Order: sequence, then structure tokens, then C-alpha cells
Amino acid sequence: MEMKAFSLTDQNSGSTARISLYGATVISYITKGHERLFLSQKAKLDGTKAIRGGIPPVFPVFGKASSGPCKDLPQHGFARTHLWRITKQSISAATMTLTPDDLTQEARGQWPYEFRLDYHVSIGKSGELVCALEISNTDTKPFEFQTLLHTYFRVRDIKDVRVVGLKGIDYADKVNSCNTTEEEAEVACISETDRVYPNVTSLVAIKEQDTTIVELERDGLDDVVLWNPWTGCSKMADFGPEDGYKRMVCVEAGAVSKWHKIEPSSSLTVSQKIACP
Ligand code: BG6
Repeated sequence: MEMKAFSLTDQNSGSTARISLYGATVISYITKGHERLFLSQKAKLDGTKAIRGGIPPVFPVFGKASSGPCKDLPQHGFARTHLWRITKQSISAATMTLTPDDLTQEARGQWPYEFRLDYHVSIGKSGELVCALEISNTDTKPFEFQTLLHTYFRVRDIKDVRVVGLKGIDYADKVNSCNTTEEEAEVACISETDRVYPNVTSLVAIKEQDTTIVELERDGLDDVVLWNPWTGCSKMADFGPEDGYKRMVCVEAGAVSKWHKIEPSSSLTVSQKIACP
């Protein structure tokens, strides 16, 4: 059974987005007549697994924590694997909310904090997609978190794709387990790629054959993750088609290179804006 999903439309630009309440995952974003997100043909949309594609939100941990309060949580936390509630909706904007009451007993036990997540997704007047995650600490003690908007961008052919805005940054290369300085003004994925670029101050954009297809503005999401599983995607049960890695690149805006603390009764909003010129 497919989980409940709903659509947003901006009447001015004709842009649309479709969002699954399971994992508050934007699964489609169409602007200027083109689908901009990659959704695996084998993605599970029935709530049995995080959705492979679109924009799954990652919270409260990026990857797997080896120690600390997130150590029992599954990879990328619980936000992408629970059913959110719509708490506000108009034609072009919606807010989805997740609190401990929405979590399984297992997840509650794995992260023992009171919190509230309000995820505001909207399409702006020029057709841009804005995703803003408001994280509130409703507990009596502080908590630390990491978060990331794990965006799978659809591309025509990965061989023509270049990511700009990363030059000069010392990044963590998770494939080769080392740290390296980015020397390229235009970064290509030519094999399995899994990198965390911390503190990226430039505007990050994706080009395909010299045309800018995406501009990614970030607020409070200082880090950028670049991921493409390459041919390894054929070993992922929910990744299709088999050569789907050629049709996608994950450029993920995050706060993941360190932990971020929120004091009790405080909140913090982080966001990304996707514009397709
Ligand atoms: C990326 C990570 O953000 O997500 C990768 O940097 C990871 O290491 C990828 O493989 C996909 O993760 P998952 O849990 O959705 O398969």
C-alpha cells in the first residue's frame, strides 16, 4: 500500500511538488516542465523502508554514530522512516510535523529526547522549491543533532554533470577514507563518490553540459555532501534501473560535520532553496 502523499502547486509558475508523508519526503518536483528529482524505480513507497530518491530529511544523525546519544539509531536517524502529520497546508505550501508521539517505541527508546520537527515545504513565485526544517527542543535538557536534506537530483547523464562551488575546501572522502583539498572548480563524478565538504560558503550549483540546471541556496546547512553510488547501485535492492546512477547525483545540504546543540525551549530553522534557472 502506498503511503499518503499530497501535492503542492504554484499557479504563477506552474511548478509542482509531490510529497510522501512517510519520511516527509518530496518525491517529485517539476518546474519549467521538467522533473528535477530522481526517484528510484524500485523505491519503496509503502513505508517499509526510507524512500530511495527525492529529498528524504536526515535527523538527528548523519550516517551511523559510533558513540554518544545517537549510537543506537539506524543510519541517517528516524525522520525519514516515520509518518509525519500535515499541520498546515495551502495550495503551494505545507508544514509537516513529527514529535516523539509519532515515533515507534523502538525509535523513542533509541533517542530519549522530547522534540518537535516542523518541516515547511513550499514552492515560491518563480517556481523555486524551499525546504525549511524547524527543530525545537521541547525537553528540559539540551540535545545535539545533525541534519541533512538528502536531495537526489535527476540528471540526463552523469558524465556531463559538474558540481561548482566546492573548490579549495578540505573534504572528507568516505570512499578512500582520507581528507583531501578540492582542486577542481567543476567537480565531476567519475566513479563511486561519497564526500563531505564542510563549511561551504559559495553558492553550490549543478551544471550539465555547461548549462546550470540547479542552484542550491542554503541557510544553516553549511556542509555539502556529494554522493553517487556508481555501479554499486546495482547491489542496492531498492535502486533502479540497474544503471540508475547515470541519472542522478546527490548534492545534499547539511549540518553534519559536527554536532549542533539546541537548548531547552529553543528552536532552530535550517533550509535549502532549489532554483532551476
Ligand atoms: C549519503 C552518505 O548521504 O547517503 C552515504 O554520505 C550513504 O555514505 C548514502 O551511502 C545513502 O544512504 P542510505 O542509508 O540511504 O543508503
